[in-house]
Amino acid sequence: MPRIIVITGASRGLGLALAKKFVDLGDTVFGISRTRRYWPAAQKVVPSGHFKLLAGDITSEKTVKTLLAGIKRRAGRIDILINNAGSCAPLALVEKVSLKEFREHFKQNLDSAFLMCKHAIPVIKKQPHGLIMNVSSMAGTRAVPRLVSYSAAKFGVLALSQAVAKENSETGLHCITVCPGGMNTEMRRELFGSEDAARQQTPEFVADLMVQIANGKIPVLSGGHIIIRHSKITGVFPPPAA
Ligand SMILES: NC(=O)c1ccc[n+]([C@@H]2O[C@H](COP(=O)([O-])OP(=O)(O)OC[C@H]3O[C@@H](n4cnc5c(N)ncnc54)[C@H](OP(=O)(O)O)[C@@H]3O)[C@@H](O)[C@H]2O)c1
Repeated sequence: MPRIIVITGASRGLGLALAKKFVDLGDTVFGISRTRRYWPAAQKVVPSGHFKLLAGDITSEKTVKTLLAGIKRRAGRIDILINNAGSCAPLALVEKVSLKEFREHFKQNLDSAFLMCKHAIPVIKKQPHGLIMNVSSMAGTRAVPRLVSYSAAKFGVLALSQAVAKENSETGLHCITVCPGGMNTEMRRELFGSEDAARQQTPEFVADLMVQIANGKIPVLSGGHIIIRHSKITGVFPPPAA
C-alpha cells in the first residue's frame, strides 16, 4: 500500500529531494513550506499528483493543527513524518547574538519539530506503525562556533527524538534523528557562499539514505541517531541507556 509521508520544508533542498524519492517509490507526500515561492520549481522536480504542497508556518501551533487536521481528513493516516524544515542564524559570536535572535532560531528549528510531533503523535499512535524522522545536524552533535542558536536548537532536536522514542517504546511509533553534515542547498549557500556549498554532499545523497532507513535497509534504533557527512555514514548511535 502506498505510504502517506509528511515532510516539512519540502519546497527545496533536502525536503524536496526526499519528496522526489518517496513519490518515485509510489508513496504520497504532503510537503509543507511557509511560502509558495519555490513551488513552481518544486513541481517541475516532482511533477506528480502524489506530491501535494501545503502552505503554512509550522512555528504556529494553530497552523500546525490546521495542516495536520487537513492531512488526516484527506489521507486518513500518517505513516512517516519528517521534520526537516529549519533555518540557520547568520554567523555571530555568542556575545553578539541578541536574545530575540537566539529565541527565533529555537522557534524555527525546535518549536516547529516539537509542534509537529505533538500534534502528529495522537494520529500515528492509533496506527499499528509509524516513523518520525527529525532532521538535526552535525551542529546538533557538536557545537559550531558562531552558530550558537542553531547548534543549541539542533541539540534540542536530539532530545525531542529521544523523548518521543522513550515515551512510545511500547507502541509501534519509532522516532530517530538524522544529523547531516553540510549539504549543497540554499541554506548552506546563504551561510557560507556558493563555492563552499558546491563542495558539500548533495541533498539527494542524504535523502537516499533516509529513504533506506525508512525502508528498514539501514537500521537505526528508535531514539538513536545517524550522522551523514562528506557523502558517508560516519556514525550510527543507539539511544542512550535509560
Ligand atoms: N544545508 C546544510 O548544510 C544542512 C546541514 C545540516 C543540517 N541541515 C538541516 O537540514 C534541514 C533542511 O535544510 P536545507 O538545507 O534543505 O534547507 P533550505 O534549503 O533552506 O530549505 C528549507 C525548507 O524549509 C521551509 N521552511 C523553513 N522554515 C519553515 C517554517 N517555519 N514553516 C514551514 N516551512 C519552513 C522552506 O520553505 P519556506 O522558506 O518557503 O518556508 C524550505 O522549503 C534543516 O533542518 C537544516 O537545519 C542542513
